[in-house]
Amino acid sequence: MKNKILVTGGAGYIGTHTCIALHEAGYEVVVYDNLSNSSREAINRISTLIGQPIDFIEGDIRDANMLREVFAAHQFFGVIHFAGLKAVGESVAKPLLYYNNNVSGTITLLQVMAEYDVKNLVFSSSATVYGDPETLPIDEVSARSCTNPYGQSKLAVEHILEDLAVSDASWSLIPLRYFNPVGAHPSGQIGEDPNDIPNNLMPYISQVAVGKLEMLSIFGNDYPTVDGTGVRDFIHVTDLAQGHVAALNYLQQHASSKSGSDTASSVGFLPINLGTGKGTSVLDLVAAFTKVSKQPIPYQFAARRAGDIASCYASADKAKELLGWEAKLSITDMCQDTWRWQSMNPNGYK
Ligand code: NAD
Ligand code: UD1
Repeated sequence: MKNKILVTGGAGYIGTHTCIALHEAGYEVVVYDNLSNSSREAINRISTLIGQPIDFIEGDIRDANMLREVFAAHQFFGVIHFAGLKAVGESVAKPLLYYNNNVSGTITLLQVMAEYDVKNLVFSSSATVYGDPETLPIDEVSARSCTNPYGQSKLAVEHILEDLAVSDASWSLIPLRYFNPVGAHPSGQIGEDPNDIPNNLMPYISQVAVGKLEMLSIFGNDYPTVDGTGVRDFIHVTDLAQGHVAALNYLQQHASSKSGSDTASSVGFLPINLGTGKGTSVLDLVAAFTKVSKQPIPYQFAARRAGDIASCYASADKAKELLGWEAKLSITDMCQDTWRWQSMNPNGYK
């Protein structure tokens, strides 16, 4: 079966949207998730949206035996690997947890993939691997460096994938470096559901708008940017999901499903940015959200957040050239869909 895909972390924010996009593109999806940062309700909602039950296995990527059972039961063309922990602050407090989950977990997954000769992987990397960029927009050959354990774990996995591609030319490994994913499915049925008080800007804004949080603190208004606040490349999560479909389609054309097959070919290590190429300031995002939601979003300026950079936006040229993919949705779309999800589900999936 050339179209069966294992999606680790498929119950999470980006994973759920990608499962729907994969289904719509004709891929058969098996989700593998330990639900450490997601819920069965998210799985139920994917099933409702695609009109059929989604194949779901509750399991941990660090559990090699369980993974072996899954690989023995299905013939996968490849893996999209979302499973990981993603909170920067928590990673500083619990580095071993982050290295164990994100790095050891990925090594275990790769070992089992090798055992079953499944060598096509799309990995969730992050713009965080670029650290504080020297030039903008950031392209894929920019220098990489990280300062916190979360970022280090992404960078470490990228290095492992590079070494793996050098050691064995039959691997096809695409780390997708996401910029700032925001937004929700247009149905309002799935979206980002932070466990605690959100760390990231968009969920914080939407929880202020819905009345769950009192006031947004804007971290820094003295950056060398258009209005002094941080500038980021926000990308709609459904555009991001389409980027994964495009990466898989690319692998379908350029990588074989088995390394021993007559037509064996591979793409090696191929990092690709997924961003819009446009920067938006914190104040601009607040203004756009206020307009869409018609809710007041009180804010105050606060000190810069440790580890933050002034500006970060992608060069999205490589994705367009190689994958034929580009982001289509606007900041207004991102705010509208976030607001629909937040107002229809004020308590997330709970
Ligand atoms: P998420 O937390 O919503 O989804 C991750 C999923 O992985 C969750 O469902 C969680 O239960 C699962 N998971 C975690 N550890 C696991 C393990 N050991 N075994 C099995 N399942 C496990 O996060 P997301 O926003 O959807 O992010 C997906 C991936 O993209 C992550 O690897 C994250 O680091 C990366 N990423 C996210 C962002 C972002 O802003 N959301 C930006 C760049 C990169
Ligand atoms: C953050 C992480 C990054 C991770 C990404 C995942 C840090 C330092 N960086 O990126 O490693 O890959 O999330 O999505 O945590 N802001 C406020 N008030 C808030 C929240 C954010 O002003 O309450 C500002 C920040 O200072 C920044 C911008 O909004 O200028 C975006 O912040 P955020 O959404 O957290 O994303 P990043 O910092 O880009």
